[in-house]
Amino acid sequence: MIVLHTLSEYRNLRRNFSSEEQTVGFVPTMGALHEGHLSLVEQSKRENDRTVVSIFVNPLQFNNAEDYEKYPLTLKKDIQLLESVGCDILFAPSKDAMYPRPVELQMEFGAITSAMEGASRPGHFSGVGVVVSKLFNIIQPTRAYFGQKDIQQLCVIRQLVEDLNFPIQIVSCPIARNEKGLALSSRNQRLSPEGLELASQLYRTLIITAEQSTLTTPQQAISVGLQYLKNYPDIRLDYLEIVDTIQLKSLSSFTVREPFVICIAAYVEGVRLIDNLIIQA
Ligand code: PAJ
Repeated sequence: MIVLHTLSEYRNLRRNFSSEEQTVGFVPTMGALHEGHLSLVEQSKRENDRTVVSIFVNPLQFNNAEDYEKYPLTLKKDIQLLESVGCDILFAPSKDAMYPRPVELQMEFGAITSAMEGASRPGHFSGVGVVVSKLFNIIQPTRAYFGQKDIQQLCVIRQLVEDLNFPIQIVSCPIARNEKGLALSSRNQRLSPEGLELASQLYRTLIITAEQSTLTTPQQAISVGLQYLKNYPDIRLDYLEIVDTIQLKSLSSFTVREPFVICIAAYVEGVRLIDNLIIQA
């Protein structure tokens, strides 16, 4: 695997791919890699001639300074993991390489960011939009791979690519979970064994809420989910929502035969975790 730290090194390499008409798959990450990230890399490998992964903990998207400072940095191990799945290129720029001067640019995504992560983390999606736009311009991929785990991020990226005409195909990848159903996340590293056990109740809550969807209204289904969570007072809920999969608008009834998604965000041992479950109508 080739490891590059500067924009000019990558650009020199990228020129060769263009002349050979090779497709480039791109997986942007913030490192602290786990099987979820690796499943994106594997999918990209199957679908492209070359696969590029980026690792960059983007300060612009953290609305909480402590969260940024505590974000796990595990570059050595990440390199080993990427080599084990046959990643071709790792782009791991420094903060100065990405942001040589303070960024003034702000991005607004309107309605799709009005609830959930957009509401709970002011400025987060602006920071994601800026860094992903920069990475798309640097990497120039044919396809870019994003996890369904961050479903609102996925919708933001789709809107970004459409509005700014990036010639890139966005591919959505399924959520990788552990044996208890807990969605894999770099933040899980900050949980104790008990915390990990407790965190799997987020997925149980999604399942229990989903089971109501053939019977009741979205509001009633959410109430059942909330009731279930009361058994676990150490889980501090941020939101439990049922929304459509395109605009992420609150669903008013289950009668429309459209897929929908149940989304949850909660704190376990002070660590903020998110998860979701798409239900095909
Ligand atoms: P990060 O949290 O490192 O995630 C990188 C990619 O891995 C995202 O597309 C995310 O949805 C996906 N991912 C994380 N956990 C997953 C799981 N359990 N199963 C499947 N996919 C999973 O998301 C970001 O970084 C950043 O916001 C980024 C897009 C890199 C911009 O800075």
